[in-house]
This record gives sequence, structure tokens and C-alpha cells, in this order.
Amino acid sequence: MSSFRPALIKTLNGEVSKKPPVWLMRQAGRYLPEYRELRKNTGSFLNLCYSPNLAAEATLQPIKRFGFDAAIIFSDILVIPDALGQPVSFQEGIGPVLDPLSGIDDLKKLKKENIIDRLNPVYEAIQIARADLSKDKSLIGFTGAPWTIATYMIEGGTSRDFLKTKRWAFSKPEEFKKLIDILIDAITEHLISQIEAGADALQIFDSWAGILPEKEFDLWCLRPIKRIVSGVRGKCPGIPIIVFPRLAGERYIKIAEIDGVSAVSLDQTVSLNWAKKFLQPKVTLQGNLDPVYLLAGGRVMREETSRILDTFRNGPFIFNLGHGVLPSTPLKHVIELCEFIAERGLQD
Ligand code: CP3
Repeated sequence: MSSFRPALIKTLNGEVSKKPPVWLMRQAGRYLPEYRELRKNTGSFLNLCYSPNLAAEATLQPIKRFGFDAAIIFSDILVIPDALGQPVSFQEGIGPVLDPLSGIDDLKKLKKENIIDRLNPVYEAIQIARADLSKDKSLIGFTGAPWTIATYMIEGGTSRDFLKTKRWAFSKPEEFKKLIDILIDAITEHLISQIEAGADALQIFDSWAGILPEKEFDLWCLRPIKRIVSGVRGKCPGIPIIVFPRLAGERYIKIAEIDGVSAVSLDQTVSLNWAKKFLQPKVTLQGNLDPVYLLAGGRVMREETSRILDTFRNGPFIFNLGHGVLPSTPLKHVIELCEFIAERGLQD
């Protein structure tokens, strides 16, 4: 057995390096001409996600172009409702569309058995991508968190105010818990299967963690994530886990304190000095350049990147964005960003 560990894994295990590992959320996607080309021939977005060779190719595109330290498997958080039998489609200019769950009776329609069989193409894509990736690069598996996935299942897509989901969760918590419990089990299985297929680390996206009052945050974000992390770690003790509780503010501390969480991914609203003081002593940090700086490029992008690197340089840190790459991001800004981080990393 070789003891070689790639940069991302070392940092997730708490090591401090001069040049932080770099990858970007949504690094595969429409801002890449080769992705747009691939998409022309793949039919629906989910069809691409469920075509192992093509999904593996999309996964590796940003690594080939920019040399990032990690690839993230090309998939989506909404494969979970799809696998549970609530079909998902992605419509141009609208986003995801689901036939919304409207109450406890609809939970009976969810097929909890065999979701791993239905998600098998994702695991095949992981095997192919891992085999094509050099050993100094890591492959990240991922999932949405129960709360975020539940919002899409209940609203039927993206929402502005999440009224239906919040109303259900607040007024009938014992019913809502049944949905969250179904999701906890499905997500835990999905993550374990991704590790078995070859994922080196995991990220849990709780994109809508920031819209809940404290009591509900504890019930519907914190507790489910705790259960998932302990379920996954129980099976795969060494696997590093990153959690992204977007817009959670000071509640990032609660996530960082979960036993088994290796890193938290910071959205762009988190104050750097606060994170350095209260989070970095507990976990590895990842983030948090506003994707609009990457869109803007140039001096402003470099200044903000410097501020982030300077703040987090004495603790374990992975460079990333505060949210996903925007589709209109110019390629040359991404190249500029990678070069800038590489140069700065070598200086003292
Ligand atoms: O490169 C990567 O980061 C890996 C792939 C990835 C995708 N989605 C591919 C994708 C990841 C990690 C996701 C996560 C995801 N998906 C989240 C959590 C992160 C976040 O953004 O908050 C959420 C909420 C979703 C749900 C989702 N998927 C929406 C709302 C949309 C439509 C909006 C959009 O950008 O088009 C998607 C579609 C989607 N997922 C695309 C990609 C590349 C665009 C599809 C296309 O046009 O080809």
C-alpha cells in the first residue's frame, strides 16, 4: 500500500499547505465550450447524468482544461427524488420541474426500495472517471441534504419563498419528519455507494439551509446531516466529508462541530475573520470567492482572492467559490484565477 495522498485529502485531514488545493463548485457546465458541445448530443440533462461514459467525460473536462485538484462527479442533487419515483425534468430557462408532493398521502408513492439500482449509472460514471483521473487528483461524490431536496420535492422546482415547504414543516412536523427520514436513508445509501464506486471525498449541499429559523434549522438541517454523516462514517470511517450549509451564518459553527465533518464550505456572505476565528480551529475551510468576482475577473478578482488566501493561510484551507460558477463566466478568468493562486502560493 502506498502512503501517497493527494493535496485535497491532506487538507481535508487538517494539513496546512502553502498552495491551497483548488476546485470550483459547478466547475463542469455551460461556461465550458466542450460541455456545450457534449450537451448537443445528449438529449435531456438527466440523460447525460445517467450515461456513465458521458457523465465521466463531463466530470473530467474542467480537470483537463484547468488542472484543478479535484473533480466532482457530474450528476445532480435531484437524482434522489428521481430515483424515489418522483420524476424530474430540467426545462430550458426554468430549471428543474417536479410534480410536487402535496401531503402525507403522496409519501406513499415514493419507492424507497432499490434506489441504488436506479442510481447505478452514477456509480458506473464514478468508476470510469476515477480510472481516468491521475492519482494526485481527488474525485468528490456528492448529494443534496434532506432539507434542500425536500424543498424541490414540495415546491415542484426552484422557489422564491418556500411557503409550501415551510408551512408543512412548521405546521405538521411529525408528517414532515417522515419525508426527511425517507431522504436520510436514501442519501446515506447513495453516499456509501459513491464511496464504494471510488469517490475519495464527499460533499453535502444544503443550498437552502439559510432560510429556516433556529429551531427548524436544528430539526431539518442539523439533525439530518448528523445522521447522514454518522451513517456514512459508520460504514466508511476514513472518508472525508465536506458540508455546505449555504447562508447559515453563525450556525456554520453547529455544522463544523458535527462529529465526522472534515470541512465546511463557506458561502460568500460569511465574514472571513469570523470564520478564521470560530471555524478554522475546528475544521478545514473551503470557499468563498463570490462567483461574480470570477465573472468580473481582473484586479478586483485578484484582490478579493488575496484577501481570502491571506486570511486562511495559517490553517487548513481549500480554495473554492461561495456558490457555483455562473454560466456566463469567461474561461480566461478561470485561467487567471488558477495562475494567480499558484503564484501566490509559492510566495511567503
Ligand atoms: O460541476 C459540478 O459542480 C458537478 C455537478 C453539479 C450539478 N448540479 C450539475 C448541473 C452539482 C454539484 C450540482 C448541485 C446542485 N443541483 C445543487 C446544489 C448546489 C447549488 O447550486 O446550490 C442544486 C440546488 C441543484 C439543482 C439544480 N440543477 C438546479 C436548480 C438546476 C438549474 C439551474 C441551472 O443552473 O441550470 C440544475 C441543473 C444543472 N445541474 C446544470 C448542471 C451543469 C445545468 C444543466 C445544463 O443546462 O446543462
